[in-house]
Amino acid sequence: MMSDLSEQHILLGISGGIAAYKTPILVRRLVEAGARVQVVMTANAHKFVTATSLQAVSGFPVRDNLWDPAAEASMGHIELARWADQILIAPASASVIARLANGDASDLLSTLCLASPAPISIAPAMNQQMFQHPAVQRNLATLRGDGCRIIGPDSGDQACGDQGPGRMTEPEDLVMALTQQQLATDATSNTPLHGRKVMVTTGPTREAIDPVRYISNHSSGLQGLAIAEAARRAGANVIVIAGPGVPEAHGDIQRVDITTAQQMHDEVHAHLANTDVFIGVAAVADYRPANAAAQKIKRHKQDEMQFTLVQNPDIIGSVAQTGRAKVVVGFAAETNDTLQNARDKRTRKGLDAIVVNDVSDHSIGFNNSDNAVTLIHQQGEVEFARQPKTAIAEKLVAQITDLFAASLVH
Ligand SMILES: Cc1cc2nc3c(=O)[nH]c(=O)nc-3n(C[C@H](O)[C@H](O)[C@H](O)COP(=O)(O)O)c2cc1C
Repeated sequence: MMSDLSEQHILLGISGGIAAYKTPILVRRLVEAGARVQVVMTANAHKFVTATSLQAVSGFPVRDNLWDPAAEASMGHIELARWADQILIAPASASVIARLANGDASDLLSTLCLASPAPISIAPAMNQQMFQHPAVQRNLATLRGDGCRIIGPDSGDQACGDQGPGRMTEPEDLVMALTQQQLATDATSNTPLHGRKVMVTTGPTREAIDPVRYISNHSSGLQGLAIAEAARRAGANVIVIAGPGVPEAHGDIQRVDITTAQQMHDEVHAHLANTDVFIGVAAVADYRPANAAAQKIKRHKQDEMQFTLVQNPDIIGSVAQTGRAKVVVGFAAETNDTLQNARDKRTRKGLDAIVVNDVSDHSIGFNNSDNAVTLIHQQGEVEFARQPKTAIAEKLVAQITDLFAASLVH
């Protein structure tokens, strides 16, 4: 058993699910991993596990009532919220998930979650039908968007006799998940991007011609995804605004899916508050059909067909113009006069840096796992020879981290 939870103050929230019977073991495992654990139970959790057991294994009195004058006098709920380095809710019932997703503070546990700056991990546990209900999935997506980490659930035999997703992640695996998260946090806690918000756009956009046809491009979104993952590994809180067809990101990354350039523009600005670094990797359509046909366009007698295109909003230019992000990085895919075009684009759009690749070379760039790029910024240019997009991403994020660190001292 790893012991990297030493010195960690863990507030364990237990709600009214059958898996609560496993929580005395969970507390034992957390304590063995070096953590100090204080337990907060919902009123319904008492139906499944006794406070006496939890008090015995944690070594702390169990808290379950916002209105308990004696408990409040010894450690007020705000003090308890501040005491926590992290909050784990296991098992998390559908009901507590709904309360948290709605910012409800109607009991001690939900109040603590709102009052604490500590990261929150949630281990859902419920009947598979409940878990797959759109309302529960919607609430979990909201919590993910709020920065909560959802651990599990496992799939398999359930206490009610059903089979499927909804089993609470086993205590040992929960401890492992918290430990790995802690190791990752420790490794990046001194890096400039730690805890900073990085927004990455990636993938193509689609501009409708009619209900079945669209204008798009060959972007796979892989380079942007690799950059998002590298920024996350560097400790940043990452949000990805992804075009159609972009694969799932690995790791704890918030994601918003869009189809059109206008939608990407709107989502970028809706989520721009507190963004420290903006990296626009998406291959955004510069133009869209002026009027998408409401019905499928039929073949006509004449050989030619014309339609008018209108300009889409300039997403990265508009982000740079707001001055809200400390560092704004753009991408340029060029087929000719590569470097000069990119240098011009950087200054024209007021970007801190631009990354350019030559998409006339089909062995790199679009829809390929390799890339070769040049990063251009005010102080110079750095060339990265052909290599996997993941390796390029690591190096670009290191460079962007330096630009961000420099922006803090200016
Ligand atoms: C025997 C029994 C088992 C239950 N198991 C679960 C469960 O595993 N997950 C869940 O979300 N709700 C479960 N419920 C329903 C919750 O206990 C109920 O929604 C309750 O209001 C949750 O309250 P709390 O979230 O404040 O603890 C169960 C109810 C009963 C009677």
